[in-house]
Amino acid sequence: MNYYKIDSLEKYFKIYNKSVREPEEFWGRVADENFIWYQKWDKVLEYDMINADFKWFKNAKLNIARNCLDRHLNKRGDKTAIIFEPNNPDEAAQHITYSELHERVCRMANVLKEKGIQKGDRVCIYLPMIPELAVSLLACARIGAIHSVVFAGFSASAVASRIQDSECKMVITSDGSYRGNKAIDLKGIVDEALQTCPSVESVLVVNRTNSEVQMKEGRDHWIQPLLDAAAKDNVAEIMDAEDPLFILYTSGSTGKPKGMVHTTAGYMVYTAFTFKNIFNYKGDDVYWCTADIGWITGHSYIVYGPLLNGATTVIFEGVPSYPDFSRFWDIIDKHKVNQFYTAPTAIRALAKENLSYIEKHDLSSIKVLGSVGEPINEEAWHWYNNHVGRKTAPITDTWWQTETGGIMIAPLPFITPTKPTYATLPLPGIQPVLMDERRNEIDDNQVVGSLCIKFPWPGIARTIWGDHQRYIDTYFSAFRGKYFTGDGALRDEVGYYRITGRVDDVVIVSGHNLGTAPIEDAINEHPAVAESAIVGFPHDIKGNALYGFITLKERGEGRDRDNLRREINEHIASHIGPIAKLDKIQFVSGLPKTRSGKIMRRILRKIAEGDFSNFGDITTLLNPEIVEEIKNERID
Ligand code: WTA
Repeated sequence: MNYYKIDSLEKYFKIYNKSVREPEEFWGRVADENFIWYQKWDKVLEYDMINADFKWFKNAKLNIARNCLDRHLNKRGDKTAIIFEPNNPDEAAQHITYSELHERVCRMANVLKEKGIQKGDRVCIYLPMIPELAVSLLACARIGAIHSVVFAGFSASAVASRIQDSECKMVITSDGSYRGNKAIDLKGIVDEALQTCPSVESVLVVNRTNSEVQMKEGRDHWIQPLLDAAAKDNVAEIMDAEDPLFILYTSGSTGKPKGMVHTTAGYMVYTAFTFKNIFNYKGDDVYWCTADIGWITGHSYIVYGPLLNGATTVIFEGVPSYPDFSRFWDIIDKHKVNQFYTAPTAIRALAKENLSYIEKHDLSSIKVLGSVGEPINEEAWHWYNNHVGRKTAPITDTWWQTETGGIMIAPLPFITPTKPTYATLPLPGIQPVLMDERRNEIDDNQVVGSLCIKFPWPGIARTIWGDHQRYIDTYFSAFRGKYFTGDGALRDEVGYYRITGRVDDVVIVSGHNLGTAPIEDAINEHPAVAESAIVGFPHDIKGNALYGFITLKERGEGRDRDNLRREINEHIASHIGPIAKLDKIQFVSGLPKTRSGKIMRRILRKIAEGDFSNFGDITTLLNPEIVEEIKNERID
């Protein structure tokens, strides 16, 4: 039996059962038959779920960039690896073949080396969605440098804290970026960030917008002349299976972002396997994931997963609303996209627009649709199914996380019957469990519990950069011996999972994970603010939006409230990024607190949602009277 390709429901169950009964045998076979290795492993898996220690394919040697590129050269060197669709539809799209991509990655790898980057060094990548972004990831992987991509919508101080945390030696950026009708000065943001980043020795700058930028002598270099001068061959570094491949920061429940570390072999095997099965990619299909490579979805399912499978992957620089709301449909039509993977927030935003935007395009190339980032609501699901999938393309609602490396729970198109709002069944190797408040496993159906995974899978993050204890505390302590996802879920009578949303202090806004703590930290730095509490509330398009309850210091009391609101949001934008701005800000005279001084967010969440029923017992609060005031002055 070929374990790499699941082609029927019966085979899914067979493979799934095998993967649970004999995980080592299962993953060993998948790894053995579908990748190239310098040296195979001594042992498929060694693990400890208490101390969060995972070794997959122990002592194997490989290079993931070689698996993404070199091994395809003979068979499909002339096949398009990347289709680049620029922000401006009048600018020509680029088709980059596997051979060309290989050469570009080799040149870039040589440039990195020449600039002193060695195996194990960290390289921060702060680039727009242009081919150089994918090339940079692969070039780092090729020489064994650890890439840390920072989403190019983050502010200077967010960039700085990420560079500092992992002590990056280099930054790869561009002069600017285009997003719709805006141009953003990326290099200026990097310059500001680097004022507090002594570890950075060099900055490579891609020319994208022809903007005037400051180039710091000795530190900053335009990349193109270096690439032109570099050799076009590069021998890929021999990496250990457990050598870190990349760091990717995700929000946490404390102010400091968590640098999730993914390693080489397990991540490779898992992203390749999941891509192959979840998107049903075949032959010369054109696959498009609209995420940004700055998030895990882009890492795993724009770059690594597709290229490992020799697929054609689209990189789109722009936004769905530019030049108008037909842009996505235009691109699908233009490049004859077969698999389309996007987020519920984008679906909801586009569903709000006139149907004529979609109807004037031919979407008949679409075979499979995917959704990721947050629960997809029923209305959005049906709109996606009716208008984009023409009721024939199955929707795969894929649940996973930065920490999981790849998709964990999702229907396999044409195999698993779909059910709106259900991510359905776990992928092979994934053993989900639901836990109740007393930390017992829930066996019943339709009961919401904390979603945990009870056995390791190859794509699991290995640690938090520089803070393994925090990794254990965050993910392996709430339910001993299990990985805790932070999500709530329920299971139906046939074993399908439905993700109900976060059960911790993370709010998903337009598909972006935002920890409320870092936003509160940023707000509290504003000189007029005494204290703040941020909660999420349901929003038609964004899924959730942020509601801030803020108490002011005396000096803030006399200030104009709208000005203050504006300032607070600007403050958040400059500390974190515009995505974290608050939709509603209510100034209050106090926050509801428990006797131990903890803010009762449960009550604030209900008020923000406009649900005044059942606040629970508020008599235990230090200041129960405040609840009435906050409720009466709620912003609608
Ligand atoms: C949420 C994105 C419901 C969930 C890949 C998770 C989802 C968090 C889904 C991780 C889905 C992602 N249905 N919820 N299909 N996909 N989520 O790290 O709360 O950016 O924990 O990874 O997004 O977000 P992250």
